[in-house]
This record gives sequence, structure tokens and C-alpha cells, in this order.
Amino acid sequence: MTHAEARAVRGFQERFGELPRLRARAPGRVNLIGEHTDYNDGFVLPIAINRAIWVAARPRRDRRVHLIAADFGEEAAFSLDELQPGGLRGWAAYPAGVAWALEQAGLRLPGMDAVVAGDVPIGSGLSSSAALEVAFATAWAALGGHEVPRLELARLCQRAENEFVGVRCGIMDQMAALFGRRGHALLIDCRSLETRPIPIPEEMVVLVADSGVRRELAASEYNVRRAQCEEAVRRLQGRYPGIRALRDVSRTQLEAARGELPDRIYRRARHVVTENERVLHAVAALARGDLSAFGEQLNASHESLRSDYEVSAPELDTLVEAARSVPGVYGARLTGAGFGGSILAVAQREAVQAASAAIAHYYETRFGRRPALFVVEPDEGATVHFE
Ligand code: GLA
Repeated sequence: MTHAEARAVRGFQERFGELPRLRARAPGRVNLIGEHTDYNDGFVLPIAINRAIWVAARPRRDRRVHLIAADFGEEAAFSLDELQPGGLRGWAAYPAGVAWALEQAGLRLPGMDAVVAGDVPIGSGLSSSAALEVAFATAWAALGGHEVPRLELARLCQRAENEFVGVRCGIMDQMAALFGRRGHALLIDCRSLETRPIPIPEEMVVLVADSGVRRELAASEYNVRRAQCEEAVRRLQGRYPGIRALRDVSRTQLEAARGELPDRIYRRARHVVTENERVLHAVAALARGDLSAFGEQLNASHESLRSDYEVSAPELDTLVEAARSVPGVYGARLTGAGFGGSILAVAQREAVQAASAAIAHYYETRFGRRPALFVVEPDEGATVHFE
């Protein structure tokens, strides 16, 4: 058992006086490349990681829900009959939203007693919220006796976050938490929702550095970016009536229409259009084991996020620069929505120690504190175990 799993199970026994009926686990993710492309029907390449949220649970005869967050000693209680989008705040909005979305889809659920614990850092761009959603969706579907296909669970969790919590996220994080494969990254076509596991070469290590920066603005800025992409599509449709999303726009088409777009909208669209190309180049590079070419795509992704999409932060730029200065590091970029959170660096196994030391030193010199640094392994998607 991992520490987080043990905390969930022990917490459950202490609180409810018996073993949980089940344990559900859902991993966080690191997106290797393909940022802010998912809600544009584009391509993404995340890995599910060996850090997860665990839910230890038992069903109840009534429709009450009693939740305990073991890691921060908080409790939440609500009834499944009183769920209203926007009606709950904080971490409990995620499990409540998931229950709401499942029931909206016609799946009747039992009440639940549960303890949740995890080792996915919160607010660090590693999708602790999607992991929380998927862990509860998996637990609830199992307790309700429903066999829900994984793709449907991913959609319902996204719906919970979009409509109940109020963040208009894409579907990448939920897909990664459900479809992750040990030793593989996942190429997801966010239009067809087809997934293709891409083997990660043995010598490649993914190092994460968490800036510790948490931006309250992130959710509202995220929604602004989405609206700007929609505006780009509306304007481009004047010239290209056949397009439905930025996914359908080529770089040549975008350049030809440049004069019709406000500069900011043009740059947002340019990020998305070029990022989709970079994902496909990156996958091809991985497939032929060319980690230098793979790293170049990561570097270019960060530059585009920084200058065209404007979702980086000085802390993230510093981490990325420090990582890149170390021999044996192939590339580095911010991962997740941006504004704060983490970067990832792709490195040779032998270079990881030097890279960690350089990143810590450089960051501390500039910002007066140490970043959290850890290596992640590509892991399996959500699982559930009955006792
Ligand atoms: C967040 C969202 C995802 C995706 C990324 C940016 O993680 O939840 O859907 O849009 O940001 O790539």
C-alpha cells in the first residue's frame, strides 16, 4: 500500500469502525505536450502518474453523503437529493458534482461514507481535481452496481467540473486518469476521443518541479482563453465556413486570415494551431526514440505558451531555463493550464540528479525558496478494489 492509500483506509477504520467496502484510486497526470488544445478538439499527450487520490468507501442505505479529507482534517456532508450546480464550494464540490452528473445520466446512486487521501500535490498543475472526480466516479459507479464505460465516466467527470464546479476544462485530465497505461504516454484525439498508448523509452525520465505558485486567477483566466479561441473560430468561419474548431485550421489558413483577426486573438489561435503540429511531431520523435527532437518540441511548446498564449509566469520560465541549462536534459516546459503550478523536464536517467540540483539552486537564488522536485513514472488509470 502507498502511504496515501493507507491513510485513506486507516482513516476510514478509525472513523467508521470497520473496513471500507472498497478502495478506488485515480492518478494525477503530467501532460508531456499539447497544452490548451483539448478544448479546441486537438491533440494531447499526457501520462497518468504514480501519484494518486484514494477513496475508501462504503454505501449507505439512505441518500446522505459523509466525506472526510484525511490530509487536511476536513469533513463535508450533503444529501444526494439536494445537489444544485454551484451550490457547494471547496473540495466537496468535486465529489458532489460527480454524483450530480452520474444521476443526471440516469444512474441512481446510494449515499456514501468515505475517507479520501492522496499524494497528488494540490493546485500544482498535476490534475488533483480530475483525480478526485475520477476516484469518486469510480467508487460511486461500483457502489451503485453500474458498469459505466470509461469514456462515459470521463465525459461525466468533465461535465461535473464544467457545470457543477463551474470551470470550463477540457477532457484531457479525466481521460488521462481513466486511460493511463504503465510505461506509456497517451496520445488523445480530443475530437474523436480515440486514445493511442505511446511507449516511453526506457532511458527517458520525467522530472517535475513545482513552483509552489498558486494563482486564484487561474480558473477565470482559463475561461478567458477558451472564449478567445471561440472568438477566433467565429471570425475565421467568415473565410472558412467549414471549420468547427481551431483543430480544423492549418497554419497557412491562419496566416492568410491574419489581417481579419485582432492581434491577441491571432496569437491565441497561432498557439493552438502550432501546438497541435508539435504534438504530432513529438509523437513521431518518441516513436523513433529521438529524444532530442522530442525535447525540441517541448521547448517550442513552452515558448508558444509564454509569448502567444500568455499563460506562463516568471517562476515557471525560471524553472524551465534552469532545467535546460543542464547537459542530458532534452527539453522542459510548463505543464497543465499554467499561470503557476509545475514544469516538467525530460532527461536522461544519469542527468536527473544534476538537473534537480541546478533547478533548486537557480530557483532559490531568484525567488528565495525551493521548488518541490520529484520524478514521476507513467502509471495505470483508475482502479477499484473490493475488500
Ligand atoms: C487544465 C484543464 C485541461 C486542459 C489543460 C491545458 O488542466 O483541465 O482540460 O485544458 O488545463 O492544456
